[in-house]
Amino acid sequence: MDLDQLAALRTPEGTDALAAATEVAGGDPLAAAARLRSAGFSAGLAAAALTQAELRRRAGGKFGPEVGAMFLTRAGLEQATRRVVADRRAARLRAAGVRTLADLGCGLGADALAAARAGIRVHGVEADPVTAAMAAANAEAAGLAELFTVECGDATAFDVTRVEAVFCDPARRAAGTGRRIFDPNAYSPPWDFVTGLAERVPRTVVKVAPGLDHALIPAGAEAEWVSVDGDLVEAALWCGALAEIPRRATLLREKQGALTGASGGAGIPCHQLTGAGDTDAPVGPVRRFLYDPDPAVVRAHLLAELAAELDATLADPTIAYLYSDTPTRPPYARCLEITDVLPFSLKRLRALLRERRVGRVEILKRGSALEPEKLRRDLKLAGDTAASLVLTRVAGAPTVLICRPVTA
Ligand SMILES: C[S@@+](CC[C@H](N)C(=O)[O-])C[C@H]1O[C@@H](n2cnc3c(N)ncnc32)[C@H](O)[C@@H]1O
Repeated sequence: MDLDQLAALRTPEGTDALAAATEVAGGDPLAAAARLRSAGFSAGLAAAALTQAELRRRAGGKFGPEVGAMFLTRAGLEQATRRVVADRRAARLRAAGVRTLADLGCGLGADALAAARAGIRVHGVEADPVTAAMAAANAEAAGLAELFTVECGDATAFDVTRVEAVFCDPARRAAGTGRRIFDPNAYSPPWDFVTGLAERVPRTVVKVAPGLDHALIPAGAEAEWVSVDGDLVEAALWCGALAEIPRRATLLREKQGALTGASGGAGIPCHQLTGAGDTDAPVGPVRRFLYDPDPAVVRAHLLAELAAELDATLADPTIAYLYSDTPTRPPYARCLEITDVLPFSLKRLRALLRERRVGRVEILKRGSALEPEKLRRDLKLAGDTAASLVLTRVAGAPTVLICRPVTA
């Protein structure tokens, strides 16, 4: 997509082409193109409209209902923040008193739009001209063009004294190939600029990959890991006056009604576990209940805090499963009841599952090199009951735990 194609899509004829493309998106692409061509749209407009309709369809719930009016690029969509995460960040910034914000590398504007919805005046800087034009169009479509302005330019040249706070979500995919970048020094804007922001602006937030090496967390910053419906989606560094506690795990839900007893989150329902993140959880024997912690808790190094909350222990100092004598259904971990503890032996496990008539298993693993799908085939299951198998290590020894979910 280039700027001319975007401009064409924003004319009344382009709006009609987009509406027609939305009806046929997701089906056979050749038939869809033929349908738009037979409705009188030029080949170029039909192709641009179909690409947009397909990207909007693929975006699914990522942006909420507004996606139907948004302009997207494939790279921008892949890198954009999910709406629930962006809304929570924006609510926290607003609650911290931020009224003006620069979004340095704003992409399609998912974070900036959330900040504007929260009442913050946002100025986005975006290096890619088409992405910048789309972000501006997205602000207009959302009725937020007064609060969210966009400039096409280099974020590293932006005068940060113009705003009270800055947000930066550096590109972590290689331009052209779209491959993920794992080395922060290859981010764009570069990592030294990003971390330097925290030294120049009293209130800085940086979105980073959830696999971020803890050694790269700037001194004094709060590092937060965020999961949505149990999937780890990002980490954020809250710097300067925005840092509240060294480590935080924030658990969000997109599926309605899935979050009970939620707290925190500056008005956006979420569960939060916080702490110093520098303590080891105690180690003990395998106990009756196993807890599989949410990945945000594990990545935030908050296992000791969770163990204290659950009165639980590890069975191996290097493996993030917790064990306790009592079941609870905390939001931070899934709870399973352990029925059997076996040193790992395929023969023994197969015999036991046969005896119990187990025909279906879910396989969880931490600290095991076994491939779950290969194990499933090798087990040659037969029967009408189900079990959860946990492949792990106990005090260093390969172990399998046979479990069942805790229901009530
Ligand atoms: C990860 S994306 C931002 C996504 C955005 N937070 C969202 O949720 O929609 C990073 C963006 O930064 C832009 N970018 C990279 N280097 C830049 C620079 N030096 N100046 C301005 N923009 C830059 C990229 O073009 C890309 O669109």
